[in-house]
Amino acid sequence: MSESELISLQRANQELRALNESLRSAQHQLLQSERLASIGQLAAGVAHEINNPIGYVFSNFGTLEAYLERLFEMLEAYEQAEAELADSAVATRLAALRARVELDYLKQDIPLLMGESKEGLSRVRKIVQDLKDFSRVDTHQEWVWASLHQGIDSTLNIVANEIKYRADVRREFGALPDIECLPSELNQVFLNLLVNAAHAIGPQRGLIVVRSGVAGDQVWVEVEDNGSGIPAAHLARIFDPFFTTKPVGRGTGLGLSLAYGIVQKHHGRIDVRSEPGHGTCFRVTLPVRRPAVEGLAT
Ligand SMILES: Nc1ncnc2c1ncn2[C@@H]1O[C@H](COP(=O)(O)OP(=O)(O)OP(=O)(O)O)[C@@H](O)[C@H]1O
Ligand SMILES: [Mg+2]
Repeated sequence: MSESELISLQRANQELRALNESLRSAQHQLLQSERLASIGQLAAGVAHEINNPIGYVFSNFGTLEAYLERLFEMLEAYEQAEAELADSAVATRLAALRARVELDYLKQDIPLLMGESKEGLSRVRKIVQDLKDFSRVDTHQEWVWASLHQGIDSTLNIVANEIKYRADVRREFGALPDIECLPSELNQVFLNLLVNAAHAIGPQRGLIVVRSGVAGDQVWVEVEDNGSGIPAAHLARIFDPFFTTKPVGRGTGLGLSLAYGIVQKHHGRIDVRSEPGHGTCFRVTLPVRRPAVEGLAT
């Protein structure tokens, strides 16, 4: 075989390999989006069903809290009056009853129980909201031309509290054009990536780098952390709804699936590379102009 034949064979081989790789990646994204679509429908149904009762339970709870405050006030007055009771038989009976129902303990414990329950309710509400966002049942947003950097900066402000005790944030922004997008949804994506990055940082202070750049008619944003990394066995599942390695109450496992759905709606892609023990980098790639494929995902 001549040298030129060899070179052209090698080139063909390389091209085939690259093609194969992009096919595999496309297939993976397709499978993922199909799976998400069916889970999305289920999630929308569940969220809808839970939303109603949680709404009135939440509202009743607020009223109940105010009522309890009034009851406690009245109780306080009764207690003062009790001390002035002349009839000692009544006074003894009341004292016995007070002991039996453990009134002092109730007065202490009821506000604690109310507080805890309220926190729980808020959490459920947040999950339902996430589910609704995920299934996009009530999004009627406008596509606009917006600056990603502005969105990232405001998102960084929002999560500053979550991050500032764990990591420094470094911005390495390229010169990005405005892109046609749903800005608040993309902020949701950055928010999830940033919070995840912060959560991945161990006891030692870490670093989160937010990078951006342009590639042809696409822009990309990376969120990289030097935290725990993601074990290879988990990589295929991190975008699945409810996949979480965080303790109950800390993570719902919806963040990345939400992000995935939003990026997909923008006809973009989200990629991840991670090295356990060293860190993780998520890259979101988005077209500058919204492709004219109507009816696909609005
Ligand atoms: N930057 C990261 N570093 C290490 N692990 C990560 C990172 N981002 C995501 N993960 C892993 O992926 C899982 C899923 O992430 P996802 O954001 O979907 O859910 P979550 O963060 O666990 O909960 P939620 O976002 O709903 O509060 C996480 O539990 C974690 O194991
Ligand atoms: Mg998360």
